[in-house]
Amino acid sequence: MDMLMIQLEKDTSIPLYEQLYEKIKKGIIDGTISVRTKLPSKRKLSEFLSISQTTVELAYAQLLAEGYIISKPRVGFFVEAIEELAYVEKAVAHPTLKTSANPEVYIDFNPGSIDTEAFPFAAWRKYAKDAIDLHQKELLLLGSPQGELELREEISSYLYQSRGVLCSPEQIVIGSGTEQLLPMIMKLLGEKNCYAIENPGYTLTHYIFDQSYQQIIPINVDQDGMKIQQLEQTDANVAYITPSHQFPTGAVLSASRRFQLLNWAAQDKKRFIIEDDYDSEFRYIGKPIASLQGMDRLNKVIYLSTFSKSLMPSLRIAYFVLPRELLPIYYKMFSYYTSTVPRFEQYILAQFMKEGHFSKHLNRMRKIYRKKLEKLTLSLTPYAPSVSISGEQAGMHVVLTVNHQLNAQTLSERALQNGIRIIPITNYMITPTIENRDNQFLLGFGGLVEDQIPYAIEQLMDCWEIQKQVKRD
Ligand SMILES: Cc1ncc(COP(=O)(O)O)c(C=O)c1O
Repeated sequence: MDMLMIQLEKDTSIPLYEQLYEKIKKGIIDGTISVRTKLPSKRKLSEFLSISQTTVELAYAQLLAEGYIISKPRVGFFVEAIEELAYVEKAVAHPTLKTSANPEVYIDFNPGSIDTEAFPFAAWRKYAKDAIDLHQKELLLLGSPQGELELREEISSYLYQSRGVLCSPEQIVIGSGTEQLLPMIMKLLGEKNCYAIENPGYTLTHYIFDQSYQQIIPINVDQDGMKIQQLEQTDANVAYITPSHQFPTGAVLSASRRFQLLNWAAQDKKRFIIEDDYDSEFRYIGKPIASLQGMDRLNKVIYLSTFSKSLMPSLRIAYFVLPRELLPIYYKMFSYYTSTVPRFEQYILAQFMKEGHFSKHLNRMRKIYRKKLEKLTLSLTPYAPSVSISGEQAGMHVVLTVNHQLNAQTLSERALQNGIRIIPITNYMITPTIENRDNQFLLGFGGLVEDQIPYAIEQLMDCWEIQKQVKRD
């Protein structure tokens, strides 16, 4: 393709790169830009549209991240094959490091840890005081089983603006964490279901599914996320998936697999997708990947998310968004239950969001985590090619691949003996997969202090006896 005839509006608040990305994406989905087409080079397109090369670069990077195009080094960008979605509307002195709970661990690459230095306590304190002053009586009484309406209103507009999730507050149910909400979703879906879950995947959800006496089928994950072709060959009727940032591999579910997954769900009334969007607020390359829920036209997606990463895990506030057709079942089964989240915290959070502190906090934290990630990458660079990282587009963890004669389990034990906690990816696996992950680790960086990251990496490499590579000029 020589050129792309695209109209961009310069007098709008939508950034040019986003407009360009949306228009190319639309062209790919509706077939105007056909599969395997080579896109114009960044330079040519920027000259043709009179925009900067960076704008084109950002748009292409986003399309690349979402799997709409692929990059062939030194050749260019090509459109990927996207499965046609039957029902999608076509328009659419070394300091002491952070001490962990375990006193023997003094460097903790735990993926669940967050930054504890930058929380806006002043605003939180103000809204805590306001909650007591303004809601005295309500605080003494039980609230809505679904969660406070004002918080659900805030969540619904946040989800629409930043995740493309389409819902009204009545579809939202607030609860005290994924571990509490997931069993609830399972009850809603009925007794005889077969769940497809990611392998490797989030251990806690593995336990939940396991303890529910429901049939579970592990589905392998590669660099494009869950293998939907494998899912299609099973009897599973519900798929639990982390499409925006697969836990733990960090893969983004590619565009063609998104369509394939939605098509799979469309083929049977009893099929559903549980989309766990646990940490997509922190995306470092391009704009956030839109949710599956927003692409879904047949109400097949139950969207699940949490404030554990975006605010704090101790808050214990998460939520799910139900397709409308499941609402009557929800009311029948759960309207006699009380909410598992105190009204006090719900009022504080609602006001915190309403007054714009949540989005401010996210922007601030995104910068902080990005800097930590850069430090981490920089600290690991001298050890390449013995080590490499992947899954670094989003979230607070990356996958570290290590070339070593010892396997990850042994290396992790050795690290622990030296006071360093780092978890092998195999710990998140249900069954062995053909992808060799015996040399991979989950490296959480959210809880590390930025300045201490080089030291933490040095200690880790020292205990594994991995040397820095000497640069030859
Ligand atoms: C895949 C996944 N889902 C959900 C969560 C958050 O769970 P909760 O809301 O129970 O804190 C996490 C936290 O690490 C996670 O990794």
